[in-house]
Formats: sequence, C-alpha cells, structure tokens
Amino acid sequence: MSVAVAQEEREFHLDDKEFRYLADLVKKQTGIVLADHKKNMVYSRLVRRLRALQLAGFDEYCALLESKRSNHEMGMFINAITTNLTRFFREPHHFDHLAEQLKTQFEDAPTATRIRIWSAGCSSGEEPYSIAMTAADSLPRLAAFDFRILATDLDTSMVSHASAGRYELRDSDGLSKVHLAKWTMRERGGNGFTVKPGLRERITFKQLNLLHEWPMKGKFDAIFCRNVMIYFDGPTKDRLLDRFADMLAPGGWLYIGHSETILEQRDRFTPMGKTIYRKAGS
Ligand SMILES: C[S@@+](CC[C@H](N)C(=O)[O-])C[C@H]1O[C@@H](n2cnc3c(N)ncnc32)[C@H](O)[C@@H]1O
Repeated sequence: MSVAVAQEEREFHLDDKEFRYLADLVKKQTGIVLADHKKNMVYSRLVRRLRALQLAGFDEYCALLESKRSNHEMGMFINAITTNLTRFFREPHHFDHLAEQLKTQFEDAPTATRIRIWSAGCSSGEEPYSIAMTAADSLPRLAAFDFRILATDLDTSMVSHASAGRYELRDSDGLSKVHLAKWTMRERGGNGFTVKPGLRERITFKQLNLLHEWPMKGKFDAIFCRNVMIYFDGPTKDRLLDRFADMLAPGGWLYIGHSETILEQRDRFTPMGKTIYRKAGS
C-alpha cells in the first residue's frame, strides 16, 4: 500500500458493505468488474469526490448515489472509476496491419468510397488520432474518400479531452518526429501540442456506454476495442463481441487489447494474428 493511500485511509473509512455497494453499482452502470483487491484503488479514486462534496464518509456518498438525486454525481463517479491509460500508437502492430489493409482494400477505390472505423473505448483520443494518422499516411487519396472515424467512450471527461485534441509534450511517446511535424501544432511557449484540424475533422467524438443501445446504423470496416473488455466479465464480453460482429461489414477487422482473447465467439470471428480478428463467414 502506498503512503498516500495509508494517509488517505486515515481520513475516511471504506467498509466492505460500502465497497460492495459501489462495486455492484459500477458493474451495473459500466460492466466493469471490481474484485475485492480493488478496494484501495476505489478508495483513492473516490476520496477526491468526498472532499469536493464535503461529505463525512463513504456512507454519505453511497446514500447520495442511491438517492439518485444527482445524475451529475453518477457521471463523476463513473469518470473517477474508469481506467483511462492509453498512448499514441499503443500496440503498434495493429496500426501496421491497418495500414496494409487500407492500402490493399482502398488504394485504387473509386472517389467517395465509404470507409468507417470505430474506436470503442477511445479514452483521451490517442487511439483514434493514431488511426487517423495511419489512414492519412497509407492512403494518399484519403481526401477523395468518405472516410470517418467514430471515437466513443463512457467517460465524459475523456471524450472532452479527446475532442479537444490537446496533449502535453510528455504524452507524445509513440509519435514519431514526422507525425508530430505533419499532424500536430506545437503551442508557442507552452508544453503542449494540438492535433491539426484537418485530421481532427475526420473524427466524430461521442459519449457512449458500450452496454447501452448504439445509435449507429452503418457498418464499420474496422473496430478497435482495446483494453476495454479486460474489465468486463465473460457474459458481458460475449454479448459485446456478438454486437461488434453485427456492426462489422463483411470481412471487417476487430482489434483487441494485448491481454485479451476471443475464445467463445469463434463462429463469428476468425483469428488473423496477434489480437487481430476478422469477421467470420465473409
Ligand atoms: C484503458 S482505456 C483503453 C484506451 C484505448 N482503447 C487503448 O487501448 O489505449 C479503457 C477505456 O474504456 C472505457 N470504458 C470502460 N467501460 C466502458 C463502457 N461500458 N462503455 C464505453 N467505454 C468504456 C474507459 O472509460 C476507458 O477510457
């Protein structure tokens, strides 16, 4: 246990009943499963909410969420609980594969050909921007296509961050010098950079809970859902994979996180390499 957590624990007490209540609520709202060993993590992520709301303890926080008086707090609660770790070109082999596929499928495609990619669980946006850079690099005629990326996340603060497209220089890990020069603008006298509007305009950012209804109608050529399902239980993951298969165009690609596998949905997805799957039967 870190010193910070030990100090924080003196400030409030999170008992097992309160932790269970919060964990059940998270599961119901987001699909995220919080095992007992996540109690310290839950404590340290929520302690700021208790302070901001000037509450006396977790019992009051649970009562506030239970009373459903505050939709706003339910959103803040979910935002505090989600794990948003990401980076540009994380798991680079996915972007190499995507570049190859885009070239093979669309290099000589007619003007206005529709291409759709979904970054499901996009966090602060590094993933959809990496997809956009990959597409722009691999398809010189990209401007002639009807190319769009949908980037969604449950966490509203992440969607705002992603849509602003502004990052600290220290977060540019994974971006080559060429990418930085070609697709971003450095802040004058600051420590940040912003993704160029031309690239940003290709992406639609939306808050979306993957457990809820999806408003999208058209099919996707590729779906990135990486390091999201790892937090879900088997049945939630299975349902989600089934729905992803429905949303993919024939022969569409699914990219998942490095520690994730698809075991149960083999009739719907064919493994095509490390954490890369193709919609089966097409
Ligand atoms: C660890 S990040 C992964 C970001 C990116 N895909 C990557 O691999 O770098 C997981 C993201 O999934 C989002 N998430 C968790 N549960 C979700 C749900 N039910 N619906 C939509 N997004 C969810 C979180 O808010 C978080 O931003």
